[in-house]
Order: sequence, then C-alpha cells, then structure tokens
Amino acid sequence: MTAAETKLSFPQDFLWGVAAAAYQIEGAVDVDGRGRSIWDEFCERPAAVVGGETGAVATDHYHRYREDVALMRELGVDSYRLSVSWPRVQPTGSGAVNEAGLDFYERLVDELCAAGIKPAVTLFHWDLPQVLQDAGGWLNRDTAQRLAEYADIVGRRLGDRVHMWMPLNEPVVHTLYGHALGVHAPGLELGFGALQAAHHQLLGHGLSVQALRAAGCDNIGIASNHAPVHAASESEADTEAADIYDHIVNWTFADPVLRGSYPAEELAAILQGPVDEDLRVISQPLDWFGINYYEPTVIAAPTSDDGSTGVLEVDLPPGMPFQPVALEGYERTDFGWPIVPAGLREIVSIFADRYGDALPPIYVTESGASFHDPDPDGDGRVRDDKRIGYHRDHLAALGQAMDDGVDVRGYFVWSIMDNFEWAAGYRERFGLVHVDYETLTRTPKDSYYWYRDLIAAQRAGG
Ligand code: NOJ
Repeated sequence: MTAAETKLSFPQDFLWGVAAAAYQIEGAVDVDGRGRSIWDEFCERPAAVVGGETGAVATDHYHRYREDVALMRELGVDSYRLSVSWPRVQPTGSGAVNEAGLDFYERLVDELCAAGIKPAVTLFHWDLPQVLQDAGGWLNRDTAQRLAEYADIVGRRLGDRVHMWMPLNEPVVHTLYGHALGVHAPGLELGFGALQAAHHQLLGHGLSVQALRAAGCDNIGIASNHAPVHAASESEADTEAADIYDHIVNWTFADPVLRGSYPAEELAAILQGPVDEDLRVISQPLDWFGINYYEPTVIAAPTSDDGSTGVLEVDLPPGMPFQPVALEGYERTDFGWPIVPAGLREIVSIFADRYGDALPPIYVTESGASFHDPDPDGDGRVRDDKRIGYHRDHLAALGQAMDDGVDVRGYFVWSIMDNFEWAAGYRERFGLVHVDYETLTRTPKDSYYWYRDLIAAQRAGG
C-alpha cells in the first residue's frame, strides 16, 4: 500500500492542532507599548533577511485575530499553538508588566476558548527583548531568571485557560542559527561558544517549568526540533562526524531535559556555571515532550578545514568536525528541504528507545512544508496538493510509529497561515491559509479543507 492509500486512523483523543508564533504573524510592532525585540533589530541589518523584509506588519494578526480564530474554528482543530511576545508583556524584559500587551493575549485566549479551541502557549519563540540582548542575552545567566519571571506573569494571568505550556521553542535552532552561525537574530557567530547560550536557555526552561507550576499551571512541555542524523557513508570518519553532530543537535538539547545530563563530558566541561546543579533544575519532570520535525540530516566528515557549506547554505566556521551534505533521492519542498515522512516515524522511535520510561507522551508540535503556492485562482481556490501530500504522508508515518507502540498524543501543523519565515522572509509559505501580503486577505487553501475533512472524519470514527 502506498502512503497515499494509507487510511489514516488515530485515537479519538488525539489532539489535532495548528501552530504559529508571535513575530511571524502579529505585526503591530509599535502598538500598545510593545518593546523592541532582537528580531526587530536583526531585520534592520542590511542583507540579514531576504528582500529586506521584516515582521513589522506580517499578517497583522494582532488586529485580525478574531478572523483568524474563526478560520481555526471552521477548520475544527482542537488546539492552537501560539506564542506570547515577551517584549509585549515586558518591554524591557524584566520588571513592570505592560498590561496592554498582556491584554492582547487575554483577548486571544478568550476568543479561542469561546471557539472551543484549546490554547497551547509557547513563551519564548526567539523574540528576546532587545534590552536583555544588550545585557548579554542568552550568554548572560540572568536571562534564564528573567524568562522564569515572565513565565510567572503569563502563567498567573492565563493559567486558568491555557491547555498546554512550553517555555521554549527550538532552542537548538536559536542556538545554532542565532548564536553559532549568525543567520538569525541576534546574529552572533560564536561557533561552539554558542553552547553557553544553549545551557542558559535550558536553565530558563527548567526555572520556567518551576515558575509555571508554582503559578498553578499544568500540562507543561517543550517544543524541541529533532530529526534523525545519518552518516553520508559507512566510513569511520563519516560515522564519527555524524555521531558528533547528532550529539550536538539532538542530545545536547534532549538529554538535559529528559535525563538530567549532557550527552558528553567534554560538553559539560566547557560550560560555565554550576552545571550539575543546573541540570537538576533543567530536568524538572514534564507532562509531555514536543518534537518539531522537518527533515533528516546527512553528515560527512569535513573535506577541508577552511569552512564548508552547511545548514541554510551558509558557510560553517572553519574547523567544524562535520559537514552537512545534501540528501539525495527525495522530492523537495520549494524551500529545498527533502520530504522524508519516514524520518518522523524514525525520530519518535529513536526517542522512545533512547529514553524508555523517562519519556513522557510525545506531541508533534510542528510539521509542515513551504511551497510557493500560486495566488488564489478565479474560483478563489489555492491548489496546494503537495502540502496535502506532505501532511498525509507524515501523519501516515506517525501512525506507523504509534502502531509500533510509541505514545504520540497530537500533531500541530506548521502553520495555520503563511507568515514571516525568519531570514527567508515571506516567499516561503507554510500555511494552510494563504495570505495576500498586499491586502492581508486570508484564503483557505485546498490543504485547509483537506485537514478539516480529515479531522471531521477522525472524529466520526476514522
Ligand atoms: C520551526 C520554527 O519554530 C518556526 O518558527 C519556523 O517557521 C518553522 N520551523 C519553519 O522553518
């Protein structure tokens, strides 16, 4: 049976969701007392973002959230994963609360609840208040404490209505792209020096879990990016390079949370601070673990030490002990990412094997594909068959993992609508809903109707 023919059948209590993040959709960057974030600054750097684009307007969700929630209600999702913009709530990253900013999330959460949609809230989806960056950002240990203070504020205000919490989104990407390679905000190129920023984010996660629980919140996890890492060949050099890469991008971010340790002594040894003590905080028990999955990675040993082309087609700093290589033999999204549904089955299974009883239930907190969809045609349709195929095949692969016994409880499509794809700007479209950036008109794509019908069919018994 081909994946296309696979009958999707999920448990009745499986959570069907969609996701987005504040800076990617809200716009309204100067409204109601919002402070500046590192992404406002980064977008102003020449050539930092394709076409010089910014999130200043984005989809204008800040003003159009009612329309967007109505689209989600029509879609029939159980949950919407949103992120709260830290600089809206605390414009300088600490101290006084900007009530007008917090009120927006209160309105949004109330609108969602009224529509029967469970809010799933990310606290830090990469938009650090610039004032905190000026004080060292995630290289400054104090930022971890600031995240917990902000978690406490949001938790106390929204805790009675929020269904799921995650203090962090993809600390690995924020560390690698933002602090090691400099292609995301804050644009630092620290190479392995970025690991200190990873440690502080993880510490911030642990402290925030404690703060949220103290504020009476429950159902707390993390949204962490993970994917299988394969060696380009069976050679010892490639296998070793792949193993190092796997440790850095996967286990450095999951082991501290799920095991209370770093995957390698050498790693813990280069970190500053009371690392053992921190690890006890970082490994607070979680109610679930969220995996964002996009594509597997193939790694080879470096061919020279004068820099190599790697992630996001930027030059890796010289001397890296690995080199990502293209994965051949798969169709690609229009973003150029290989489409490998089996990688989703594989990564959740790797997690189940690696962590055993220490692994709480898994949610797929993001999965999605960018295709350069056409504008709505004469009859108002956006034909995005490839996106339908993407989600259908990834869900089929996930279902197989569940049949194998992996405990997966839900799937959030990235994204409800087209949005600001960070350094890649607006060209990359991940949405189930098309956004016309001239008029800000929303048009549900064919994939939206497919997802709607899938959810309805699952509710009716598969
Ligand atoms: C992961 C990030 O969390 C999200 O912000 C981004 O847009 C998607 N991946 C697609 O790259």
